Amino acid sequence: MYCTKKITDDLTWVGVNDRRLAMFEGVYSVPDGVSYNSYLLRDEKNVLFDTVDKAVTRRFIENVVHALDGENLDYLIVQHMEPDHSAAMLEIMNLYPGLKVVCNRKIADMIGQFYGITDLSRFLLVTEVDTLDTGKHTLHFVMAPMVHWPEVMVTYDSADKILFSADAYGSFGALNGALFADEVDFGRDYMDEARRYYTNIVGKYGPQVQSLLNKAEPLEIKMICPLHGFVWRKNINEIVSKYELWSAYQPEESGVMIAYASVYGNTENAAEILACRLRDKGAKTEMFDVSVTAASEIVSSAFRWSHLVFASTTYNAGIFVSMEALVSDLVAHNIQNRTVAVIENGSWAPTSGNLIAAKLGECKNIKILDNRISVRSSLKEEQLKEIDALADELAGTVRAEAKESPAPGGKAASALVDSAAARKLSYGLFILTAKEGGKDNGCVINTAAQVTDSPLRISVTVNKLNCTCDMISRSGEFNVSVLTESAPFDIFKQFGFTCGKDSDKFAGAAYNARTENGIRFVPEYTNSVISAKVTQTLDCGTHILFIADVTQAFVLSEERSATYQYYYDHIKPKPQLPKEMKKGFVCKICGYIHEGDDLPADIICPLCKHGADDFERI
Ligand code: FEO
Repeated sequence: MYCTKKITDDLTWVGVNDRRLAMFEGVYSVPDGVSYNSYLLRDEKNVLFDTVDKAVTRRFIENVVHALDGENLDYLIVQHMEPDHSAAMLEIMNLYPGLKVVCNRKIADMIGQFYGITDLSRFLLVTEVDTLDTGKHTLHFVMAPMVHWPEVMVTYDSADKILFSADAYGSFGALNGALFADEVDFGRDYMDEARRYYTNIVGKYGPQVQSLLNKAEPLEIKMICPLHGFVWRKNINEIVSKYELWSAYQPEESGVMIAYASVYGNTENAAEILACRLRDKGAKTEMFDVSVTAASEIVSSAFRWSHLVFASTTYNAGIFVSMEALVSDLVAHNIQNRTVAVIENGSWAPTSGNLIAAKLGECKNIKILDNRISVRSSLKEEQLKEIDALADELAGTVRAEAKESPAPGGKAASALVDSAAARKLSYGLFILTAKEGGKDNGCVINTAAQVTDSPLRISVTVNKLNCTCDMISRSGEFNVSVLTESAPFDIFKQFGFTCGKDSDKFAGAAYNARTENGIRFVPEYTNSVISAKVTQTLDCGTHILFIADVTQAFVLSEERSATYQYYYDHIKPKPQLPKEMKKGFVCKICGYIHEGDDLPADIICPLCKHGADDFERI
């Protein structure tokens, strides 16, 4: 019986899960299974994106036939030729003899290599300049060589803003009823498997992944449909920001991964003592016995942490076998930008330390600490000071790096982050205005900044809950009016505490000033106006960051610009608390009061849209 899931009115997931597969690609254990995703787009012309592994072909065919509901299949887009996604293509081609295979030249060659099809009469070969119109939808093709094989391409549906991303943004793990990442606690329950998938499958090809990220950057992406794992339709940046770190070989977290290979427990003992000392000094640690933990897990962890310790006994005058395999695997996966320490053991001729250091020295920007522990059979009391010294050096650089790059996108790094620090940043205050159709709108922001001088380019960041944000997303243009210190609280109420969906922010205004782009600006209590056209959009979770080229700019007065601090100190009235109210929290931004003993962690101020950090107990 078919088992499909609807994604949009036109798009259906027709993939299949496999929980019986022991080793993915014959090398990576998949204890939680794996999903082979395939998608069917129903339009005037019907399109299937990739197929599945041979192990699940029967169910897949049922899914496709059901989802087509008696219609014909016009196109099969092959984005990646690895057989876990292409093995069912012959069955599909036979079932729908009229269909055309859409792919690039390299993919066509590989279809010949794998399946013996060399007659290209049923093929439509595409490049990046080609599009495929299916009716409502237009599909664009973006070549993504080495993400994960050389023939890979991804597809962008410009009608629904969906990126069919091939292996990118995928994950190990079967789908357990939920298809969308936002239906589960992805960060808590699935990120480790997403990292293990990325680092082991594509980790070697960071520059190629960066190239794909750059190509995708100008695209507005509302949904990502990968070939494995969840579909992303919300908080897309949660996975995109991880890919940015992983592909740049930047650690997600400051802390120490310790991997040890021990025959009789003495090397393990040295590693354990080091881990305890590191924790005592406030450094996070994660430990692995390389003889019992799959290399894929340790490779994944090495991509996560900033500092790596390798502790290995000497074996056959070399590195212990399981450690040698791990270090070679890390070198093969191109590990970079890490601080490394080594502990070696050897009862008569310890050599593993130098050998590990030499192997890792082949990688880019690996700093190997001179501080090295050399154990003769077992650690001695007098060597504890060496362990202490190593722990001091590691913990010291962990702290220093954490200060340099706090919380690189990972929520687990939140212990290092005092969000009050962000509130020390200096901000101005601005009215951001937009126009769509016949509607004018605006809101207050404190996040306008110049990005570059030549060309003159600015950025604004806007809460997605603001109607103005949606209007800019669609229209691609906005004005910024820079507020001055004489701005009364009323102007903040007018633009900041009402919703443009159900009110006219300009109602009663004595002015109707517009810039060349036709968008209104605020000529009162402002000292300058900047018009801009959006060139890039970044989904930042709760907010959208717009980067835009300035198209018009002029100065209205020399009065001082209002800063956020000035507003807080001089413009915003102090909250007047009702006499009878005993308990509650006040929004420091607008004065809204939330009554009750507890403040919900996810509270959003209904007036000014600020979160829990901006509330204080009354
Ligand atoms: Fe799941 Fe590279 O294929």
